Parts: sequence; structure tokens; C-alpha cells
Amino acid sequence: MSGLAPGYQQEPLPVVLVGAGNMGRNWIRTVGSSPDARVVGIVDLDLELAGRVAREEALDVVLGSSVSEVAARSGAVAVVNVTVPAAHRPVNEEALFTGLPVLCEKPIAPTLVDALQQAALAEVAGGLLMVSQSRRFFTELTRLRAVADRLGRVGAITTEFYKAPHFGGFRDRMEQPLLVDMAIHQFDMARYLLRADPVTVSCSSWNPAWSWYDGDASATATFAFDDGARYTFTGSWCAPGRETSWNGSWRVSAEHGTAVWDGDGAPEADGIDTLPDVPAGPEEIAGSLAEFVRCLRSGETPQSEIHRNIPSLAMVEAAVLSADTGERVDIPRLLEQRYAEAVRTERRTDVRERLEQWGSVAHVRGAEALR
Ligand SMILES: NC(=O)c1ccc[n+]([C@@H]2O[C@H](COP(=O)([O-])OP(=O)(O)OC[C@H]3O[C@@H](n4cnc5c(N)ncnc54)[C@H](O)[C@@H]3O)[C@@H](O)[C@H]2O)c1
Repeated sequence: MSGLAPGYQQEPLPVVLVGAGNMGRNWIRTVGSSPDARVVGIVDLDLELAGRVAREEALDVVLGSSVSEVAARSGAVAVVNVTVPAAHRPVNEEALFTGLPVLCEKPIAPTLVDALQQAALAEVAGGLLMVSQSRRFFTELTRLRAVADRLGRVGAITTEFYKAPHFGGFRDRMEQPLLVDMAIHQFDMARYLLRADPVTVSCSSWNPAWSWYDGDASATATFAFDDGARYTFTGSWCAPGRETSWNGSWRVSAEHGTAVWDGDGAPEADGIDTLPDVPAGPEEIAGSLAEFVRCLRSGETPQSEIHRNIPSLAMVEAAVLSADTGERVDIPRLLEQRYAEAVRTERRTDVRERLEQWGSVAHVRGAEALR
């Protein structure tokens, strides 16, 4: 059951966009050029900003500061949440309990505890909560996975990520800008390639003397996965010269050969004669949007539905913990600890009871295993 009115099986979905900041503008343009959806309302705490963005993007839409109210006035049937991570839960909660499915920017929450509570909340509300983990949607990444599948068992995957952006704003003030704001993409891509679960991580982070960030702009993390493979991410956000792509530079070392990918073009591989064909689809956030709408229509579960996305956030939180303590972190154990904390601190009775019904965080891992 898709839960969508029959008219929306083909018609573009009317959506409310929440958060008219930098990324919100990208989303407005992406929705505008998509056959799948159209923006009918914009919500921001800063109403003046919402109005300015609507004017500048030439949109005649309903404006407001409450998602349920703007949805009711505009006839929206879904929500795209592009607010800052700390605001994701209140916006998602209001939308889901108004009966609106949500596509929410990454990271779904600032903490694993918050993410686990939102997974239970989505269950109680009975609606789809999908995370836009947009770097899964690259045709050449799909091809790299198809190559890796042909190369047999994977021993190791590495990503080098070296860039030197001057963002200004919140990233410059974060304690772990690279690990929290960026590396979640590569960690999630590694899960996508390996089709396995992360079990441990050892991570070191530091801030080069010339860094223009307050927090650690450089990090190296090595994860062990439950199929025996290792994944190593090493990178920096204050690394001028010979920069990698935004996807990073990848190597997959496997039983029957090796593949490399610069994150932009086609992968190259030893061990296979021809590169596999893969379907080309919309990329980045356009890919997220297409999957969200396709799954709403078909009733399928998206690959980054909140339960399935939680292990990627767990990789980030575990890497940060390892960097802080200097210890190797056991990820399933961390998830159990965070689950206990989620039960203890959830303020809504219905959501807390749902969390208790899970019995253990294996509930989430069960959903994730379906990926
Ligand atoms: N996928 C990517 O590659 C990518 C790139 C950049 C940003 N992002 C993500 O997009 C999100 C937004 O980032 P940004 O750079 O646009 O931030 P931003 O600060 O520029 O914009 C956020 C907007 O949300 C509004 N807002 C905050 N709380 C709100 C609430 N409760 N209700 C309504 N509006 C609220 C703010 O007023 C602001 O206008 C973050 O989660 C970020 O990690 C993803």
C-alpha cells in the first residue's frame, strides 16, 4: 500500500519545503526541475527569508512557520525537511503526526539517541521517514558496486578525501566538522558497496596548524565490517592542492582484482574484461527525491529509510567517540547503549512504549539487514 491518493501515482507530488537556507534553495531548484514533485509551500522560522527565497525563485507558494498549517493551506501531501540537524525531530514529528511522509536531509539527527527515537516515532505515526543520503545516487558509484560484486570477496576499501573549502558559518565552529558533516556520506557509501554491517572503528582526528576550522578538520578512521572487510577513510577539509572529488578517491581491493574510482568518472578495474552496464538515473538530491516518490507510490522501503540509515550515523558517532577516547569502539555495543538511553530519555509516552517494545536495538539492525 502506497498511502498516497490515487491521483498521485503519476501527478507530481505537492510538497512543503521546510528550511529555506543554503541547501533549501538547492532543493527548491531540484524539485522544480523534477517530474516527481512541485513545491507548494515554504516553511522557515525566518518568515522574511522564506518570502525572499520564494520571490527570488519565482514561486507563488504558501508561506508560514508551521509545517502542518502550511500543508493544510497548500494541499501538500509530503514534506522535504532541509532544516539544521537539531530541528529535524520537531519538524519530522509535526509532519508525520499530520499524516505527511518526510524526506529529511542528512544527518537525520545530531545524536544516535535522537535518531533511534525518531525511528520509533515514525513507527508510531505510521509514515515514511527517509533520510536524503544523497551521495548513494551516482551512476558511477552504482557501477563501482557492480564491479566490486564481480571481483569476489572484498578485503579492503579505502577513501581519500582532501578538499579545502572555506564555508564560513556553522561548520567552522563544529568540534568535528569533517567526521560529522562530511564523512557520513563516505561511511554510508562504504556500507552501500560492502552490503555488510560495521562492527568496530578506530579513529584519530586532528586539526592542522594552518586550519581555518575551530574543530578537527582532519581524520583517519578504520572500520571492521562483519564480513571481515576493512574500510579506511582518511581525509581533510583544510588540504589545499591536488584536491579529490567531493565523493573522494576510492580503491576496492578484492579476491579477484582491484577497482579504483576518482569519484567523478567511470571506475577502472583489473580482474574484469568490461565494465558492467548499470541504469543511469537522477543523481545526488534529485536521486533521493526520485527514490522517495517512487517508494511512496509503490509502497517499497527506500534504502535510506530511517531504520536502514541508522548504522551510517552509528559509524559517525562511534568514530567521534574513538577519536575522543583513543579507544577502539564496538559499534553494536554502542548502539545498545544508545538504545537504552533513548528509552530512558524519550519524552512522548507512545514513542517510549514503542522503543520498549523493540526489546533491543536488534530491531533496527533487522530492518537494516533488508537493504
Ligand atoms: N546532502 C548534502 O550534500 C548537503 C549539503 C549541505 C547541507 N546539507 C544538510 O542540509 C541541512 C541544512 O543545511 P544548510 O546549510 O541549508 O543550513 P542553513 O543554516 O543554511 O539553513 C537552515 C534553515 O532552516 C531554518 N530552520 C531551522 N530550524 C527550523 C525549524 N524548526 N522550522 C523551520 N525552519 C527552521 C533556518 O532558519 C534556516 O533558514 C543540514 O542537515 C545539512 O547537513 C546537506
